[in-house]
Amino acid sequence: MYDRVAVIDYGKGDAVGLARSIRSRGIYSRIFPYTVSKERLAECKPKLIIHVTDKEFEYINLAHEISYPSTDLNDVLLSHVQANWTMERYAEDLILQIRETVGRKNVLLGLSGGVDSSVCALLIHKAVGDRLKCVFVDHGLLRKDEGATVKALFKETYRINLTYVNAEEVFLSALKGVTDPEEKRKIIGRLFVDTFYEAGRKLGDISFLAQGTIYPDIVESVQPGRTLAVKSHHNVGGLPEDLSWELLEPLSDLFKDEVRALGRVLGLPEVLLGRHPFPGPGLGVRCIGEVTKERLDTLREVDAIFIDEIRKANLYDEIWQALATLLPVKSVGVKDGKRVYEEVCTLRAVNSVDAMSASIYPFTGEFMNRTVLRILNEVPTVSRVLWDVSPKPPGTIEWE
Ligand code: XMP
Repeated sequence: MYDRVAVIDYGKGDAVGLARSIRSRGIYSRIFPYTVSKERLAECKPKLIIHVTDKEFEYINLAHEISYPSTDLNDVLLSHVQANWTMERYAEDLILQIRETVGRKNVLLGLSGGVDSSVCALLIHKAVGDRLKCVFVDHGLLRKDEGATVKALFKETYRINLTYVNAEEVFLSALKGVTDPEEKRKIIGRLFVDTFYEAGRKLGDISFLAQGTIYPDIVESVQPGRTLAVKSHHNVGGLPEDLSWELLEPLSDLFKDEVRALGRVLGLPEVLLGRHPFPGPGLGVRCIGEVTKERLDTLREVDAIFIDEIRKANLYDEIWQALATLLPVKSVGVKDGKRVYEEVCTLRAVNSVDAMSASIYPFTGEFMNRTVLRILNEVPTVSRVLWDVSPKPPGTIEWE
């Protein structure tokens, strides 16, 4: 269907960079560790194999069984393989593969409204229609109108079979009085998994669990001086023992920007494809101190105003991630001529490539003033706004 290149990683060069660079030329490529078996390599049906060693790439053309070192990628690639890998073709290919794998069985997918799970939902829906059952767990830690927006888009616009679980009370009562960040994360994570599996069990007759795992989550790469490192899957914890669902991971061959390109081909709206990252534990880790409904409502309002101002200033796509956080202190202020003692929030916007490090997005003083005044005027339960200008490292993107 399209020509394939296998990139063999010896841990001495940038195999991921090379694979991405080949793909950017419209040629499908896949990385294999140097320990790969001949059989596994053959399954990929590569037309060309590249040995990534020190500074040069070595190319072996399968058809002619010649190997030679060269650094001019274009020359070698284009004389051996055709640039015939397009996202449209790949989407068709994936849909056929999913249809074949799933047959007449049912697939369960945890939909979060994030890019990966949304693309996964649309793709599988195109392949098997109503045999895809999505579950959206609303843990009450979402942003303003988030649950309703996801529901409207997937249930009403795309007509996807979606079970919406309102678990706000369960989560908030489990979080009552909890202030330790790790404990919060554990509680949210455990409850999320329990709630999701419970909803899945109720749907009955499920054979596959679909996940939006992407290539960087599983790529096997060899690091200099180290043995083979394989990243473990982190999307969903181990399946409960009574569930024998098979994993379906249709995006596991794609880098993040390719997932977005696939989403575009499938018709997902740009506003969803370009969304800033949002942590799984949601606003739970942005309400420093105790997580209560009142504090979450305050944070939702602050976050909505911050993002609205960023969008109005046309800065949303320039910023990698913007977030508001509530601090566990109150501050005295004067509102409408009266003394108030209310919440303190922080605002933060960063740029990053992979979230491993981040630099501060430099807003203008005018933007900052406008946003602060709106928050103080429109959110009665906030008396002070602070700007967080710490780069990562040492300051992580989230506060906890
Ligand atoms: P930190 O705070 O570690 O965050 O600098 C790096 C990126 O990861 C996001 N993040 C999470 N995402 N589950 C997620 O899915 C989590 O528990 C989680 N914690 C942090 C964070 O928003 C940032 O983009």
